Amino acid sequence: MRILAIESSCDETAIAILSGVGDVLTVEKSLILSQIAIHAEFGGVVPEVAARKHLEAIMPMLKAEVSPAGEGIDAIAVTKGPGLAPALRTGVEVAKTLAWLWRVPLIPVSHMEGHIYASWLQSEIPILPALVLVVSGGHTELVLMKGHGDFERLGETLDDAAGEAFDKTAKMIGLPYPGGPEIARLAVNGNRQAFDFPRALLTKPGYDFSFSGLKTSVLYTLRNHEERLTDPQFLADIAASIETAIVDALIAKTKKAAMDYAPKTLLLAGGVGANQYLRERLVAMGQEIGVAVILPERRFTTDNAAMIASAGYFRFQQSSNAENPLFLEADPNLDFCKKAEHKN
Ligand code: KG4
Ligand code: ZN
Repeated sequence: MRILAIESSCDETAIAILSGVGDVLTVEKSLILSQIAIHAEFGGVVPEVAARKHLEAIMPMLKAEVSPAGEGIDAIAVTKGPGLAPALRTGVEVAKTLAWLWRVPLIPVSHMEGHIYASWLQSEIPILPALVLVVSGGHTELVLMKGHGDFERLGETLDDAAGEAFDKTAKMIGLPYPGGPEIARLAVNGNRQAFDFPRALLTKPGYDFSFSGLKTSVLYTLRNHEERLTDPQFLADIAASIETAIVDALIAKTKKAAMDYAPKTLLLAGGVGANQYLRERLVAMGQEIGVAVILPERRFTTDNAAMIASAGYFRFQQSSNAENPLFLEADPNLDFCKKAEHKN
């Protein structure tokens, strides 16, 4: 089966064409147009601007890659939520129109489920049940995936997401948005032990995270060392210490959940999953406790439509009663998890 996927939840317009046979998926096309440069002028993503830019971008992308009659496309998957309402709506309306015109099923997909299904876009695919560390710009969660489409949230951030912690602290030291890759770049030459930033909730039961204390601590450290703000070594040490504090907290809770729930595999999902240090630490932790770690390709960790096609493919395999194209609506607060049955 061949799926066209559309993703427009935030500041990336993306389409993908994916073909699937059994559990084997092939990404035929994956196009991403980032609006980051446009939003950088405003200091953050402006939803109405994002929506207008998605509309401008999406038709030329489709025109370049898909036949006007939709030949060879068996279904359309689209991000229904979560995300920015006006941005989501553009992708959903385009997908509805095409599904109706081409008379193909329309598969609504959760953006977060999409991030998780990025791990199915490679030859070594996860064995279930899997424990997933979901780390994006808006979400930080530990999710137990028992089967396809069967997700239970074990823990989540009580305040900022890990990506947000990277972005906000990067801004404090004058780095551009998105800050995660910038911090990672500086951290390579820094001393990871230079500053002891907080790793919150480590001694508390449960699997929740908190990153707001880190932000405050970085702010005070910068204020106390004003004379060193232009010293490249100081900034590298700050970046390395921030990255280490965030990753330490993520790894500690993931390890605890892995030991408590004994999953077959450990997965990583979301934009922060592009972080090399986090990837290495997760693999090392998996080896230590004897659980296989399956990492998504880095190009599929940040927002893309191939992951939406992947999630849509498995959703369709499970139940083909796809949405009536005329009734699908974007849901900015869409949640893909069942309510937790137990919380330690
Ligand atoms: O999943 P994503 O592309 O968008 C959302 O759904 O939020 O995640 C974006 C987040 C941003 O906060 C960005 O700073 C972070 O992922 N990110 C990274 C890296 N690459 C992207 N964080 C740390 N290290 C990276 N290499
Ligand atoms: Zn995302």
